[in-house]
Amino acid sequence: MTDTKLSTRLLKWYALNGRSLPWRFKGGAHPNPYVILVSEFMLQQTTVKTVIPYFHRFMERFPTIQALASADIEEVYQLWQGLGYYIRARSLHATAKMIVNDFGSKFPDKRQDVLKLKGIGAYTVASFLALAFNQPETVIDGNVMRIIARLYHLTDSLDAITDKIRLKAEELTSREHPADYASAIMDLGATVCTPKNPQCLLCPWAEYCQSKGAADVEQIPNRRKLEKKEKHGSVYLIYNAKGEILIRKRTEKGLLSGLYEFPWTDEGVMFPTAQDTNNEVTHVFTHFKLTLQIYTFCTDTSPIADGIFTAPQNLYNYPFSTLMKKVIKKSLR
Ligand code: ADE
Repeated sequence: MTDTKLSTRLLKWYALNGRSLPWRFKGGAHPNPYVILVSEFMLQQTTVKTVIPYFHRFMERFPTIQALASADIEEVYQLWQGLGYYIRARSLHATAKMIVNDFGSKFPDKRQDVLKLKGIGAYTVASFLALAFNQPETVIDGNVMRIIARLYHLTDSLDAITDKIRLKAEELTSREHPADYASAIMDLGATVCTPKNPQCLLCPWAEYCQSKGAADVEQIPNRRKLEKKEKHGSVYLIYNAKGEILIRKRTEKGLLSGLYEFPWTDEGVMFPTAQDTNNEVTHVFTHFKLTLQIYTFCTDTSPIADGIFTAPQNLYNYPFSTLMKKVIKKSLR
């Protein structure tokens, strides 16, 4: 059963207060599904504020699905540099190729077809179908979970209430205006029902909200914090007699795929005779925190199979991960 009273209120609030975002279309399906595809890939794990300039640059360089499909992956990585989670860039590129080659450049609008695309999971399939095709899909991200958990004052750990949240979120979803509803609930979470200091006085759902004015509202949802695992490894600045430095390209699989790097390991040392520079870099990934001690040594033959020597002043030609940029900043500038 749809709870139309709440969705109607939210839609009215959205018409007046919804954010203007570069990928946003108010009043139904976005006329260009490509805009939704690119923005939803970028917005996976990244904030709106960070995404905006990347989105503009990306759309300028690849204005159509055909332009993206025929692009060199290296150029896609270049434009993604700094956004992180580079597997998204690779999946978006692969998805563009599939839409052009397998779907004749027509954006799929059926759940089973969209799920065949690369890098599209439960969240993105729902947001893509809702925003690009105005289909009654329920979008559930961290914002939506927080809003629903507060609305019904669900204080148990998030793991325990996820199924209930899903059910309630589906009941609330507007069947008449699903695209606007999806944007509206995201905006409510981003601007009113914020993690800290929620603006309950401005909330269109305040009179129905079981957490309004509650002392524990900021503790909902209840997320048990897991300590991030710490890893310690080493990274190597290896020079030849010409003063060139050794880099390699990561394979297309796994973490930081396709980017360039200096040889490194996340477990202890690789080259025991290398000299310690007494510098280190730290980077926090989703599931662990990595500290790399920076070492250096000289050799004219690459000690790794896929190493290439390049002049340090040419490093900017290669896409490096944020982790490796930290190494460059610490050691070479
Ligand atoms: N997060 C994920 N998709 C979004 C969108 N379309 N607008 C704002 N935030 C989002």
